[in-house]
Amino acid sequence: MTTSDTTTTEYVFDSPSVQGRQQLNHLQTLLDPITTGVLDDIGVWPGNRCLDLGSGGGSIARWLADRVGPTGQVVAVDLDTEQIDVPSRVQVHGHDIRDGLPVDGPFDLIHARLVLMHLPNREGILRDLVDALAPGGWLVLGETPDRPQEVLAAPTAADAELADRVLRTGLRVVSAAGVALDWAYAVEQRMAAAGLVSIRGNEYSPMVTGSDAGALLMGTYVAQVKPLLLDAGLTEDELFRYHALMRDPRFRAWPFLRLVTTAGRKRAGDAEQTR
Ligand SMILES: C[S@@+](CC[C@H](N)C(=O)[O-])C[C@H]1O[C@@H](n2cnc3c(N)ncnc32)[C@H](O)[C@@H]1O
Repeated sequence: MTTSDTTTTEYVFDSPSVQGRQQLNHLQTLLDPITTGVLDDIGVWPGNRCLDLGSGGGSIARWLADRVGPTGQVVAVDLDTEQIDVPSRVQVHGHDIRDGLPVDGPFDLIHARLVLMHLPNREGILRDLVDALAPGGWLVLGETPDRPQEVLAAPTAADAELADRVLRTGLRVVSAAGVALDWAYAVEQRMAAAGLVSIRGNEYSPMVTGSDAGALLMGTYVAQVKPLLLDAGLTEDELFRYHALMRDPRFRAWPFLRLVTTAGRKRAGDAEQTR
């Protein structure tokens, strides 16, 4: 299966770096309870065949492997397989999903969290993923949108202003680098247009406090795009202060980061369309 787009926008973050690996750990700590809640809601069963795209640290592939048991199958795909920590019964593929899927469907569940928003041909990939679903199978996509955020508390007013400016600049530079911050809320429409039914979604937006997983996650993002932030006018001193703030429990912000999860189901036949 292939997609037709040939654009070569690179993934803006650096998973093999120390900061990239920390990013994947914080993502899992912060977001796995939300994602597994959605997966629990739609149901993952023994014997199911599942695909996890852009698996990162592999925590969702691991969770799926537990659910599908020895009679099921989980396929985990990522550009960088070094970080994917999964049992040997999970099939791991090092692969660029801009080139299509490395394995054929059908799958009972396809999941991708914070992946399609990075890919230039996300619309074509979504359609390919729908094609790869088994009748009755679910597509679950987690993405993050651009939305105003508010600093609630910081040691000084200058710190609050800095945190706000770093986040706004960060969103601007990653957006310019090809990350689609307007995609998260568009997924529902694209799923409907691709014929999925029983579409549902939720948005998770935790308050973050300096030194918690959310604040440390923001620090890892900022560290990975540091050259872009310096080019955009922030200074080394400002970034140094930002990292100190992300470790300082006197810093609080809300909303600050978000996960929008949307799920849709491939039509299975009249009897099964009531969920
Ligand atoms: C933000 S991380 C999310 C990781 C994981 N899904 C999570 O939420 O914990 C994005 C992941 O997608 C992978 N990725 C980015 N572009 C990719 C591509 N073109 N093909 C395959 N994987 C890709 C990255 O290597 C990284 O592991």
